[in-house]
Amino acid sequence: MADIILGIESSCDDTSAAVIRDGCLLSNVIASQQVHKDYGGVVPELASRSHELNIVPVVSQALSKAGVTPGELTAIAFTRGPGLLGSLLVGTSFAKAMGLALDIPIVMVNHLQGHLLANFIRQQGKEVCEPGFPYLCLLVSGGNSQIVRVDDPLHFTILGQTIDDAVGEAFDKCSKMMGLGYPGGPIIDSLAKQGDSGRFKFAKPHIAGLDYSFSGIKTSLLYFVRDQVAADPDFIEKNKCDLCASFQKALIDILLDKLIKAAAQTGIKDICIGGGVSANSALRQRIVLEGQKRGWRTFLPELKFTTDNAAMIAIAGYYHYKAGEQTPLSVAPVSRMSDF
Ligand code: KG4
Repeated sequence: MADIILGIESSCDDTSAAVIRDGCLLSNVIASQQVHKDYGGVVPELASRSHELNIVPVVSQALSKAGVTPGELTAIAFTRGPGLLGSLLVGTSFAKAMGLALDIPIVMVNHLQGHLLANFIRQQGKEVCEPGFPYLCLLVSGGNSQIVRVDDPLHFTILGQTIDDAVGEAFDKCSKMMGLGYPGGPIIDSLAKQGDSGRFKFAKPHIAGLDYSFSGIKTSLLYFVRDQVAADPDFIEKNKCDLCASFQKALIDILLDKLIKAAAQTGIKDICIGGGVSANSALRQRIVLEGQKRGWRTFLPELKFTTDNAAMIAIAGYYHYKAGEQTPLSVAPVSRMSDF
């Protein structure tokens, strides 16, 4: 009999549900919350309330798009963490209630593991392009910047991570600082395409090992822009494309320096990226370019699987379920990775 898994994701500001049958995606519905735009960042209280409003219609739509009835489900996978606690509570409680009502198992998933496995989401009529184990994943989002070695779908080790801000935060905060809007990543990505990435230079961090730091470069941009605006109030407007291109290049250089180091140290040549920032067009081009130079096989998830989505939670849940794992109904969500 087929294993049909419903995935539920609610860790931040996207309410998402997906259905997979034997590892193959049938539907993936995402309700992105627009309410945060006016605030220049995610407001946790508003995110929880929007999840509460969205979760029933999103799950219903995912099931009907998949042509699956609740009674046909084998298990429900849900994001337990890390993320915003109030947001996670909505998805976790919904999964528990639905599992109880249908008398089927629930399976908790670490959100980051979902991003790590995004390349394993199979789709009907599309060629399978999966990395071999072990592979390295540059996991870059609004909450994380990590280099992870993935040994199999259920086992992974963090080789390096940010000691302060995540790279997505650097994109978002700098966009806000320049008055460009939220979320900053896609805006900077788009403006950077018309800019000169060599025009401005920003101080790069010197952090030991494979760890990252993005707070210094953020401050470097802040002081630079502040000084220039004092001399010319229109400085940002006149130079925004070059500012975005130069700042984006600096962030990508930092990411790639450590990734290249990790690949050399481990001898691993299958390299993936994942997380919201992996949608960045310049980062995607650069990874492919570095891969060609260094003999890597590079794997870029489809854009729709880079930002938060339940398809990646469903596929991770599928591997956990096949390994015999089930989560007790007493489970509670966790906001931090270290609590997992
Ligand atoms: O993975 P994600 O959807 O949410 C979590 O943080 O878990 O990532 C969101 C982050 C935001 O910081 C957003 O600005 C960034 O991903 N992002 C991008 C791009 N698209 C989204 N950053 C750079 N370039 C993009 N094209």
